[in-house]
Amino acid sequence: MKILLLGKNGQLGYELAKQLPAIAEVIAFGRDELDLTDLNAVVQAVQTHQPNIIVNAAAYTAVDKAETDSVNCYLANAAAPAILANEAKAIGALLIHYSTDYVFDGTKTTPYEPTDTPNPINYYGYSKLMGEEGIKYSGCDYLIFRTSWVYHPDYGNNFYRSMQRLAKEREMLNIVADQHGIPNDARDLAADTVKLLQQPLAQLKAQSGIYHLTAGLENQTTWHGFATQIIDAMPEKTCKVVNPIPTSAYPTPAKRPMWSVMQRVLPA
Ligand SMILES: NC(=O)c1ccc[n+]([C@@H]2O[C@H](COP(=O)([O-])OP(=O)(O)OC[C@H]3O[C@@H](n4cnc5c(N)ncnc54)[C@H](OP(=O)(O)O)[C@@H]3O)[C@@H](O)[C@H]2O)c1
Repeated sequence: MKILLLGKNGQLGYELAKQLPAIAEVIAFGRDELDLTDLNAVVQAVQTHQPNIIVNAAAYTAVDKAETDSVNCYLANAAAPAILANEAKAIGALLIHYSTDYVFDGTKTTPYEPTDTPNPINYYGYSKLMGEEGIKYSGCDYLIFRTSWVYHPDYGNNFYRSMQRLAKEREMLNIVADQHGIPNDARDLAADTVKLLQQPLAQLKAQSGIYHLTAGLENQTTWHGFATQIIDAMPEKTCKVVNPIPTSAYPTPAKRPMWSVMQRVLPA
């Protein structure tokens, strides 16, 4: 079994690069070796390595920058996944791709199901939805795993690590308390992926579709709730107060969905 892993230096890609070699031969690329905006290089990588499974953990994830850097965002999140899917179809490979809660508008008040209608409210969400569509229409065998609020406690730039840093620098933090979601540890997302990939390939291909790879609903919280949990667990900090604030008090270039809670739904 040969796996082509893209995005090996991202939070999730880093964990997949650690965990996937337990079950397969892994050829892993970071942006330096394969830039997704170079669509010819994407084609070449698949044709050269002829993997049984392509795992695409690479993505343009700078949500605010995407509002103005739309071409690069579209190439990485929409065009490249569609090309990967076409190439996967050509060689009969299974494509594993990750998508996002940001395909939804956040107007629901109960957990999103994979069958709910997407309606992105920012460019990043739109580009990821176009990636999903390109994969679906390619006719390849695919598993798209939407996830949310990804962090790695020991690696990369993420909310978890920012809170740990800020809690040592400041006495008070103001954190948004009216956006709801489920934080996901990249180590768990990789472990869930590895576990699924231990199934026979034919069985996985037969379950092609969109799934929600998130922790259970009991982990639902707000950014404020998550920050409080992170900071409470720190033995040494200067931060004494974590203040809840509304989204309106923390304006960002890209709008965020107020409700990002997704029901965990995985292949059988
Ligand atoms: N982070 C979240 O909260 C979140 C939430 C929902 C869904 N997701 C999805 O989960 C997946 C994994 O996300 P993550 O949190 O691991 O993201 P991440 O830490 O930002 O990693 C993404 C990786 O993709 C690489 N990349 C960006 N543009 C590229 C390009 N043009 N060519 C090649 N590589 C490129 C980045 O390279 P550099 O290191 O050089 O920048 C980075 O290593 C993505 O599909 C993302 O959309 C993430």
